[in-house]
Amino acid sequence: MTQDELKKAVAEAALEEVKKIISKDSIIGVGTGSTANFFIDALAEIKLDFDGAVASSEATRERLQAHGINVYDLNGVGTLPVYVDGADEVNPHLHMVKGGGGALTREKIIGAASTKFICIADESKQVDILGTFPLPVEVIPMARSYVARELVKLGANPVYREDFVTDNGNVILDLYNFPIDDPLAMEQRINNITGVVTNGLFALRPADLLLLGCSDGVKSIT
Ligand code: 5RP
Repeated sequence: MTQDELKKAVAEAALEEVKKIISKDSIIGVGTGSTANFFIDALAEIKLDFDGAVASSEATRERLQAHGINVYDLNGVGTLPVYVDGADEVNPHLHMVKGGGGALTREKIIGAASTKFICIADESKQVDILGTFPLPVEVIPMARSYVARELVKLGANPVYREDFVTDNGNVILDLYNFPIDDPLAMEQRINNITGVVTNGLFALRPADLLLLGCSDGVKSIT
């Protein structure tokens, strides 16, 4: 199977999970990226069975609306029953690195506001130790150099993501070659640097269910 076929398979498996949870008045959290896009396209098939969605990025909002799915502001809705999103890396504890697409902050907010976080990923995303994929850190623009110096003190090699502005008007520093032994501690440590909005470690709020697309089928991992 190609990587896109694996992504489509996990998106369809996520749809089956979502069907078990939702009712007519449900509002669903929807993530960002190519795997999430397959999920959005699958979700359109059942758009009459739920009320709408909260989007983790402008790109996702546009795709949902193109399918005729209502998109709500998170401030106007309560706790979401389920959030479905991809990942750049996921470890056996269902800690993730996310934010390759730069949507990490809104993704983390929606994950926090959701009862169930379903991660959908093809098998290339499964790792034992997080940090081979560059860890994104969203930073207030005026703090970029200061935050970069503080990240160097943590042993990281921060690289400014050129020509990229997040949906929140901020910049991204990507941390290359930064193996993370203790994701819970590192998530908090980086977030404690003044000027950091958040970082792409999702360990304090990991996924509840991983649907992993493998050549021999979709595995459900909790
Ligand atoms: C975007 C994300 C994505 O979930 C992550 O980058 C995975 O993307 P893809 O499904 O395209 O591999 O965190 O900010």
